Amino acid sequence: MGVIRFDNVGRIFGAKSNPFVALKDIELQVDDKEFVAIVGPSGCGKTTCLRLVAGFDFPSSGSVLVDDQPIRRPGPERAVVFQQFALFPWKTVRQNIDLGLRNQKVAKSERDERTDSILQLMNLATYADHFPHQLSGGMQQRVAIARAYVLDPDVLLMDEPFGALDAQTRVVMQEELVRLARRNPRTVLFITHAVEEAVYLADRVVIMTRAPGCIKEILDVRSIRESENWDSHEKIEDVMDLESFVHLRTHIWRSLREEKAAATA
Ligand SMILES: Nc1ncnc2c1ncn2[C@@H]1O[C@H](COP(=O)(O)OP(=O)(O)OP(=O)(O)O)[C@@H](O)[C@H]1O
Ligand SMILES: [Mg+2]
Repeated sequence: MGVIRFDNVGRIFGAKSNPFVALKDIELQVDDKEFVAIVGPSGCGKTTCLRLVAGFDFPSSGSVLVDDQPIRRPGPERAVVFQQFALFPWKTVRQNIDLGLRNQKVAKSERDERTDSILQLMNLATYADHFPHQLSGGMQQRVAIARAYVLDPDVLLMDEPFGALDAQTRVVMQEELVRLARRNPRTVLFITHAVEEAVYLADRVVIMTRAPGCIKEILDVRSIRESENWDSHEKIEDVMDLESFVHLRTHIWRSLREEKAAATA
């Protein structure tokens, strides 16, 4: 299982005399194996939300639960992928992917088997013995995703994982992530600034307001994807051309622009 629940969550930073409300009244449930993307203006609290689920930070009020248990610390059942790949430069691709399994004290034969299979799945098999600096940015990001996936986590937390990639590589990664997510579904919380990416990948898109970050709107993309049969189109650019896609994208753009305008007003 991997059900994430934000139960009336608030997060306040800073001194009591000068508090900064980063998150306010966040109510959200991400269902088991559901893919939810969060978009919102810079500084609205997206990363903060993700850190709460990861167990790197804790709410000031309310609670964040996974499978009805309050989160007390990071755990292997919740894997995190950041914008900066943070691979160990002195370890090979295989060793980078293997590390988490090692920490979990998984037996060598099983580690090898799981690492091999994710290397195959992510088209990295021929690079297993390369070091990160010998790989392109897109490949490094694939390693970072493989490293998270190999742990077989219930929950995958991704904070702008494709933010550092060029546009073409990004599209390839988006298509690969969709392929991976269909074959091996996980509960995913995915943060992005790219509206198209959110609509293409997610079952639901959460739009946040400017600080203090609240949930402004939640869009059900999945029902539209299914009713409009997006999956019959293989290429991302064909999906992005569909009227139903454009409509959703424009709606989100407008909503974000409204927040931005209000923030600068
Ligand atoms: N540890 C901290 N101490 C004080 N303030 C913090 C801390 N962490 C985050 N904040 C503040 O909380 C707000 C939300 O930050 P957060 O990183 O969650 O935003 P974000 O939505 O991820 O932004 P971006 O899109 O730019 O990554 C920001 O104003 C930030 O300065
Ligand atoms: Mg952030």
